[in-house]
Amino acid sequence: MRPLIVGNWKMNTTLTEAAILASGVKEGIVSFPGVEVVLCPPFPWLTAVADAVHRRPAPNLSLGAQNISWQIEGAYTGEVSVKMLQGLVGYVIIGHSERRHYFHETDDEIVKKVKLALAHGIRPIVCVGELKKPAAAILADPTELTASQLRKPLAEVEALVDGLTSAERRQLIVAYEPVWAIGTAEAATGYYANAVAEMLQEEAGFELPILYGGSVKAGNAREFLHQSNISGLLVGGASLKISEFVKICQAAA
Ligand code: PGA
Repeated sequence: MRPLIVGNWKMNTTLTEAAILASGVKEGIVSFPGVEVVLCPPFPWLTAVADAVHRRPAPNLSLGAQNISWQIEGAYTGEVSVKMLQGLVGYVIIGHSERRHYFHETDDEIVKKVKLALAHGIRPIVCVGELKKPAAAILADPTELTASQLRKPLAEVEALVDGLTSAERRQLIVAYEPVWAIGTAEAATGYYANAVAEMLQEEAGFELPILYGGSVKAGNAREFLHQSNISGLLVGGASLKISEFVKICQAAA
């Protein structure tokens, strides 16, 4: 698998900004075929961004959604069905910590969403991560890291794996995003993220691509990309700036 760099725009950008951002990223990454880039704009801009991206397609750029409904259709005001996204996106972020926190998404709903995505040919990127920042000593040298400090992400991976068939598991991507590092300018360390990713792999019991997310920037992207258990990055704030995001993609290429 080529390194995967996913830009999660969250609830940001106007329509005009979205089109400029998407075109700018496309121009910037077209010469990095060694990296696969996914842009996840807000739902209302998906078709406009698809137009901007597909006018002169870059083979290493595709689109993703930030969420899907756990239901397929019906009286669910405000929800977006996976059926509406089929053919438009190749990926979907599921169970982001902001959705788990603000919208009370449960592991059961997350498994339902993953199954729906896979049944419609869309690759799910499922977010897991602990809430509490570990001690500085553990961040610097995670050899003392124990499973009890990672109870939350390990349980999230366990719930996911238990709910999926082996064919479904093969399509799964996990984003390890320590919640304390999201949007805080305080990323984890490469060593720590790698140690956690290894424990998540062991919990899964099969080879699982794991992305790191949490205050990734051009300046620290390499630190994570060099780790043996990390297959790419999920980028929030820095994905809203063309040059910063392109530099992150370049680091992966
Ligand atoms: P951040 O967000 O890069 O702004 O920390 C990452 C995420 O929430 O996916």
